[in-house]
Amino acid sequence: MEIQGLRRRPRRLMLVPCAMQGHINPMIQLGTILHSKGCFSSITVAHTQLNSPSDHTSSHPYFIFQPLLSSDDSSLSSGTDFIDQLSNLNSNCEAPLQELLIQIVKNLEQHEDLPCVIYDPLMYYVKSVADHLKLPSIMFRTSCVTNMLSWYVCPRIKKQGYTPFRDFKSLELVPGLDPLRFKDLPILPSIFENLDAYLQLVTSVQNIGTSSAIIFNSMDCLEQSSLARLQQECQIPIFAIGPMHKLAPEATSISLHEEDRSCITWLDKQATNSVIYVSLGSIASVNEKEIAEMAWGLANSNQPFLWVIRPGLVCGSESKDPLFLPDDFKQTVGERGCIVKWAPQKQVLAHKAVGGFWSHCGWNSTVESISVGVPVICKPFFGDQQINTRYISHVWRVGIELENDFEREDVERAIRRLMVENEGEEMRQRAADLKLKTEFCIQKGSSSYNSLNDLVELIKSV
Ligand code: UDX
Repeated sequence: MEIQGLRRRPRRLMLVPCAMQGHINPMIQLGTILHSKGCFSSITVAHTQLNSPSDHTSSHPYFIFQPLLSSDDSSLSSGTDFIDQLSNLNSNCEAPLQELLIQIVKNLEQHEDLPCVIYDPLMYYVKSVADHLKLPSIMFRTSCVTNMLSWYVCPRIKKQGYTPFRDFKSLELVPGLDPLRFKDLPILPSIFENLDAYLQLVTSVQNIGTSSAIIFNSMDCLEQSSLARLQQECQIPIFAIGPMHKLAPEATSISLHEEDRSCITWLDKQATNSVIYVSLGSIASVNEKEIAEMAWGLANSNQPFLWVIRPGLVCGSESKDPLFLPDDFKQTVGERGCIVKWAPQKQVLAHKAVGGFWSHCGWNSTVESISVGVPVICKPFFGDQQINTRYISHVWRVGIELENDFEREDVERAIRRLMVENEGEEMRQRAADLKLKTEFCIQKGSSSYNSLNDLVELIKSV
């Protein structure tokens, strides 16, 4: 689409991800997609904690990796003090980013436009820096559209007198967010108490300000109605251009853990659709009792399984080998189970042997499994994961929720429902249909394809 009268000068792009796996992957995919559109003279990734940037330069030749802080100053992990950590990280990064952007602007070639900044709203300091320097900025939210919509609806619910302790385990539908129930909201009672402060801080709802647009790794075929409603709430354009890993298949992930590719050789030996792949993402953690229940549920299900036990998955296990498990468990499962510390997930999910995914339902895992037609056992932990679970199980109907605490009988039952019974076969069929719809979204003239072209035009024009 050519828009008459727009400037067509090269421009540098600055990407500012939040240094968590589920946030870095889609940001790198977005950078790769925009690079393929050929409108940037260079792309800089201003980052905090990554593996050594030199590790990535060879696999990402279009990107310049620019650390903002030493890794000691930039740690971010899940836990009760997450908001404090985030707030420190934001204050620590502000001056280095400002300095970097000032340098870039100073060294601009005569024919170049001012750089455009695309940032993760968890890195909310970026917007104040961009505003201060009068640079165009665009927000990239790495969770689903419905999650952001819920942050618009929550203040209204609060005004209507709902109180967190009474209502937040309730199965009652949230007015205006059907089919979400109160228990699906990504909000803790403590946050609800201080909703205004929280909204101001990290949700980006009140921080849209002078941003030029919001980007999502989502699709019309998944969230058409939430997209339309969010567009009514926001004054700026919204672009849903997913599934990004399909639009940028060559974008190798920047993995914060080393991928163990031996599991692909193990998968090659398994029957079609027989394996349940188990991964709870990069942040969620379980205790020792829960991991034992997971282990025995998997063992008793009699299905082959590929299980990611990353360092830190079991609370307090960072410093010891995470692949500890009792000997009698190992003897029971033998070759039927493959356990790794980190897997090449997209390749695993696309493998013909994988017939189901037990997931925490982070948004990336959700999009990745939907786009290859693999049905899901959902065990959400926090934030948007409960919303994704509700959509997987009740809207797209390609998965089931493991509702109770971890009990081996429930785990075994859920695996058998998904992998063996007719119910699972029906979900697999619906997942195959949804996969086709996601493929259609990126075809020429379809929603994600058009949205991407519109985004490129906007970036050229702002
Ligand atoms: C976080 C939040 O927890 C999630 O709720 C939010 O939607 C995104 O940010 P995370 O917990 O890491 O994400 O989950 P997810 O969004 O699923 O992202 C994990 C990424 O790591 C995926 O891209 C997945 O492919 C990758 N991964 C995971 C691997 O490559 N190998 C693994 O073994 C596990």
